Amino acid sequence: MLHKVSKFLCTCFMLSALTGAAQEEEHHHHHHMQEEAQQPDSSSTNHQEHQHAGHGMVLPEFKHFPTIAYDEKLKPRLPQLKAAMAIHGDPELGKKFAYQSDKGRCLNCHVLGPDGEQPGTVGPNLSAYALRKINPAVTFQQIWDARVHNPNTVMPAFGTYDLLTKEEVAHIVAYLQTLKTPVDTPADLAYSVRGVWVVGEDLTLDETYLEEGKRLFERAGANGGSCVSCHTVGGKGPDLKEVGASYPKWNKQQKRVLLLEQRINLCRSQFMDSPHYPLGSAESNQLTSYLKSLSRHLPIRVAKDAPTTAAIARGKASFQHRAGQLNFACATCHTTDQPVVGRWLRGEVTHSFADSDKIYVAAQWPKHFVGGHDQGLQSLQQRIEHCQAVTNTHPLRLGSPEYVELELYLTSLSKGMPLLAPTLSRLRGE
Ligand code: HEC
Ligand code: HEC
Ligand code: HEC
Repeated sequence: MLHKVSKFLCTCFMLSALTGAAQEEEHHHHHHMQEEAQQPDSSSTNHQEHQHAGHGMVLPEFKHFPTIAYDEKLKPRLPQLKAAMAIHGDPELGKKFAYQSDKGRCLNCHVLGPDGEQPGTVGPNLSAYALRKINPAVTFQQIWDARVHNPNTVMPAFGTYDLLTKEEVAHIVAYLQTLKTPVDTPADLAYSVRGVWVVGEDLTLDETYLEEGKRLFERAGANGGSCVSCHTVGGKGPDLKEVGASYPKWNKQQKRVLLLEQRINLCRSQFMDSPHYPLGSAESNQLTSYLKSLSRHLPIRVAKDAPTTAAIARGKASFQHRAGQLNFACATCHTTDQPVVGRWLRGEVTHSFADSDKIYVAAQWPKHFVGGHDQGLQSLQQRIEHCQAVTNTHPLRLGSPEYVELELYLTSLSKGMPLLAPTLSRLRGE
């Protein structure tokens, strides 16, 4: 069941094309109903069956590959040397596997010849590969586990990580041996037909979200109290005017970093006898958006104390930590020292967060996505989960210490910049 507007191919489609997540879209947008972490040391792995992630995509399980959980026991698989098989590959089958988004997905990173819509430019152009007369055993090894040739490669280890069988690799090798028609690498943005996300040009959020948030702010909880019974906005306090620009923040009592949405939930349970809003739920995203809108244009604050600094360092380590079946780190796609940033990953160019050209990431969330279809308000936690799920990495719970500290790290990259949240993001031309 493909949604009728799926031809617009928002991030979710592009990434799922890279990673082979089933491209089944649901018409409604997805709410996460996980409970947030209660204790800093509680396990982060999502033990509930987690078949759905991101925008309603149906994902297979990736539990037998390492996650970014702090207590992860699984180790990344070591580079494997593999002698080429004696079978004679079938180039037609090889072409099929090379194009297939849940098999080779070679087209996401390579130009493979005149065929193939929107090839990627992350890896070298392979359209005349056969003319170089490379030993098939070398090609076989490159596909089986390219780390033997380059330990830091971003090319997934297709054999070692169970993405392709020996036979499938042999078929792809045979296909590469037919590539003799040089084709130019597509140049630049003109090449995009899928559209570019507009951010910053139009930051006006649909105000009904803020009205909803304000309503939740004023609504009485189980004991009759509401946020406004105790809090002011630009008054005597405890005042919440500037709070949106100072989270995630270390909480002394809880001895952990809290997201704004988790801090709100603390007041709900402690002072209102009311249940937590599940992270990623409409209520959580709307109330958080409302509070952040009160702090709009204030500089983003990140504390300098020791626990915060240590948490940022852990978040940065997670950002650089490779995990999942594709053995990608966030940094693989979001830092300029890797070959992915600024290049075409099929229909999309990724942005760097950890370098100066796009450090504005955390200032924009929650974000209202309209790309093809309306995905509603999404939190940064949901975006992190989405990027994990579609890169074949088993996601952790929203609000897990790992995700919270990742969010804190991303926020620290936007330190001092004006808070823009909540924002609207839509495909240019829509
Ligand atoms: C995530 C991106 C990515 C994917 C997917 C990918 N590659 Fe690569 N590939 C690269 C990069 C980058 C290089 C350049 C070498 C390096 O950085 O290690 C490369 C190098 C190669 C080379 C060596 C090229 C040369 O000039 O010697 C071959 C052959 C190759 N890839 C084939 C494939 C095939 C076949 C597939 C699909 C089964 C595939 N690649 C999937 C990124 C990718
Ligand atoms: C019964 C009173 C009470 C109610 C009701 C209440 N809070 Fe609080 N809230 C507090 C107190 C007390 C603090 C701690 C203030 C401090 O540390 O300076 C606090 C702290 C906070 C903070 C953190 C402030 C900071 O500077 O880090 C946020 C955010 C917050 N509340 C939001 C809410 C929201 C949203 C609601 C409604 C869902 C709510 N609170 C309901 C009393 C309340
Ligand atoms: C395979 C590449 C890939 C990996 C790995 C990846 N992402 Fe992404 N990410 C993308 C693409 C593509 C986009 C959409 C284009 C863009 O904004 O860069 C995106 C977008 C984002 C955005 C929204 C950016 C914005 O400006 O709205 C955030 C936040 C994000 N990723 C965080 C992460 C985090 C955190 C990780 C690691 C857990 C991660 N990503 C891993 C490819 C990746």
